[in-house]
Amino acid sequence: MTRLLVGILVFVINTVYANRPYPRFYVLETVARVPYFSYLSVLHLYETLGLWRKADWLKIHFAESWNELHHLLIMEELGGANFWGDRLLARTAALVYYWVIAVLYLVDARSAYHFMELVEGHAYATYDKFLKTEAATLKTQPAPAVAVKYYRDGDLYMFDEFQTAQVAADRRPQVNTLYDVFVAIRDDEMEHVKTMVACQHPNAQQELLSPHTAAVELTLLPIDEEIATQDKVLAGEGS
Ligand SMILES: [Fe+2]
Ligand SMILES: [Fe+2]
Repeated sequence: MTRLLVGILVFVINTVYANRPYPRFYVLETVARVPYFSYLSVLHLYETLGLWRKADWLKIHFAESWNELHHLLIMEELGGANFWGDRLLARTAALVYYWVIAVLYLVDARSAYHFMELVEGHAYATYDKFLKTEAATLKTQPAPAVAVKYYRDGDLYMFDEFQTAQVAADRRPQVNTLYDVFVAIRDDEMEHVKTMVACQHPNAQQELLSPHTAAVELTLLPIDEEIATQDKVLAGEGS
């Protein structure tokens, strides 16, 4: 079922948008971030019902949707959403995918993550091909303002939080030209693939942490040990 859903999405986008890259990427980014909304909705439902609480997963999936939002804003700045027909198609498809993935996540969360692993893998391949065919042109064009703000000048906390295979603050893409921006977007898609793979791991519910949470846990560990040592010393002095 997941392969069929991805196949339909890819076929429609490839057929309708064969020669219009920015509207194509706009539709892809609109639809492809919606499953993260589905995950968040179902996780909130579980928490509301008192069935399951996993605050870090909410943070990771929100950070994923935040990253995809900025891909979408970049495509809009490049003119990808200028035609009403493209906006209508993208939003209609997004509405359908939201509910399909919400139901799938309720029934089988791992399949819902596998679905996004395939979608993000397709996005990576799409941008990789675009970079290879359009490299010369892209290198002569400036980076969109929204990309510079997101990747370089803005608050990069959320940028780190969706990349569970990375150490927080390690990955900082350069954004000098439009080519750099598409390299960053392509590499983001691969980070989403890795996060989706991590979410399917049998121990993910117990072990998966966002990069900043993992970094804090690491730094807190020695402090806890230090406090325990100080407590022992103080106890010794008091006796
Ligand atoms: Fe994206
Ligand atoms: Fe993506």
